[in-house]
Amino acid sequence: MTGLAPHGHLERYYKDSATRQTEVDAMFDDSARYYDAVTQWMSFGSGSWYRRDALRRAGISAGAAVLDTGAGTGAVTLPLQDITGPDGFVVALDPSAGMLTEGRLRGVKQQVRGVGERLPFPDDTFDFVTMGYALRHVGDLATAFAEYRRVLKPGGKVVLLEITRPQNQLGLLLLKGYMRYLVPSIAGVFSRNTTVRTVMEYYWDTIEACVPPESVLAALGDAGFPEPNRHRVLGIFSEYSAIK
Ligand SMILES: C[S@@+](CC[C@H](N)C(=O)[O-])C[C@H]1O[C@@H](n2cnc3c(N)ncnc32)[C@H](O)[C@@H]1O
Repeated sequence: MTGLAPHGHLERYYKDSATRQTEVDAMFDDSARYYDAVTQWMSFGSGSWYRRDALRRAGISAGAAVLDTGAGTGAVTLPLQDITGPDGFVVALDPSAGMLTEGRLRGVKQQVRGVGERLPFPDDTFDFVTMGYALRHVGDLATAFAEYRRVLKPGGKVVLLEITRPQNQLGLLLLKGYMRYLVPSIAGVFSRNTTVRTVMEYYWDTIEACVPPESVLAALGDAGFPEPNRHRVLGIFSEYSAIK
């Protein structure tokens, strides 16, 4: 198994690969209390509805045991808690203490601080491993996917929600104008927090620099998932899934 970084070095945001995780964590820590508000208005309020719908369509249902990696403030974890109900078990994993604190305040019940590349759980523990808009932030997709497969029970499913750079130039230009310039500017002004602006610029820059969907699918295959799948919504939302 060879490593695969989700994107090349982005020197504006971190010094080198050794400090990347700490510097990214600091950005998310500093902007955590604004994250939900910004991502909700950025998606015109559709973000939480879309996540819930995608999780249900992936087959997650009452009683399931789910690990939500890159959980942040709980945008995926909270609907998971509702869907799996009182007989389910949902754990939110994230390296940013600030994002985890916000998640706890919003009602996330079980949390673990950690990264997708090193999961503190035994083999064959979960029915589902989910990750919402955080695939771009792991250091190595190959290691993370091997970990996701390890902690899944046989027959368990990995579900990854991600934004993908549009293929056509006009779509790319419009989305970039919105996400790289308009959203960070407005978020910075309203929050009066410079890190919020930076983190939203980072949000787009990692999307633009991200490896293509074919590489994500190949990495899932290399990690031992047969027949990984990508479902596209509106050309920019990618729902990757694969079964152990
Ligand atoms: C854009 S937020 C996504 C939050 C949430 N899942 C959602 O759907 O909105 C990305 C999250 O990935 C986390 N993250 C950063 N590095 C990570 C890593 N190596 N493994 C897992 N999560 C990571 C960040 O701390 C941040 O909370």
